Amino acid sequence: MDFNEQNLTARLIGKPIGNSIHFFKEVDSTNDIAFQRALGGADEGTVVIAESQTRGKGRLKRQWQSPPGCNLYTSIILRPEIAPIFAPQITLTTGVAVADLLSLYCPGNVTLKWPNDVQIRGKKVCGILTEMSASVAYKVDFIIVGIGINVNIERSGFDEAFRHIATSLKEEVGSEISRLDLIVKLFDNLEHLYTTLRMEGFGSIKDMWLKYSDMVGKQIRVVFNDSVQAGEVHGIDDFGALIISDENEVIRRIIAGDATIVKD
Ligand code: BTN
Repeated sequence: MDFNEQNLTARLIGKPIGNSIHFFKEVDSTNDIAFQRALGGADEGTVVIAESQTRGKGRLKRQWQSPPGCNLYTSIILRPEIAPIFAPQITLTTGVAVADLLSLYCPGNVTLKWPNDVQIRGKKVCGILTEMSASVAYKVDFIIVGIGINVNIERSGFDEAFRHIATSLKEEVGSEISRLDLIVKLFDNLEHLYTTLRMEGFGSIKDMWLKYSDMVGKQIRVVFNDSVQAGEVHGIDDFGALIISDENEVIRRIIAGDATIVKD
């Protein structure tokens, strides 16, 4: 079945996430479109999907490679009743939803790397970029959850700079994957875990996240702008920060940066 608006609508009708879809052949960034729609009052669960992006956005102002015809680029509008400081829980919940999804195809080989990378056999296959609007400190207006999954892109299709650190589902599985099936399962998984988060809190999601992460107990370095922090990973807290102990056994919270494991 082709990955097009008609087939997507038929598969997503009546679902809490995806009942209302905006499908585009090409956009600057699905996150930007979703942000505008949310400002205009679009309901929770509205999704924006594009075949390609001309200015796909990554974390820390990076670009997200977004060629047509092979991958998934989608942004979901959520309106959780939470304070902005808890927004990272949504990013981590999304990470678990994607990890569960990709584990169906590559069981035992999917890992989560703080803060928001999903990897297969240590190579990045998915990135998550959440952006939010909050006019008051105690409640977010909405959160945009942007998800990019490298589905059927060939290794040769990656920009040279990423070729050794990125992968696609097809590269890992060895055969073409239906983007239609994948996105339907993705939204189902996210809906399920988002409900768990709202009903039961972050505890069980955090445990699932830690199970997928291969960082706990490892020595890492986290680079953010000009600062480097190093230490042993203990876990994550309820605000999505990475908890490490440095060489003097001082516990530190890290809220942003690129983490690399330096020693197992
Ligand atoms: C990262 O790992 O740096 C995050 C990448 C997020 C990419 C997705 S693709 C769909 C959505 N639209 C964007 O412009 N970015 C996110």
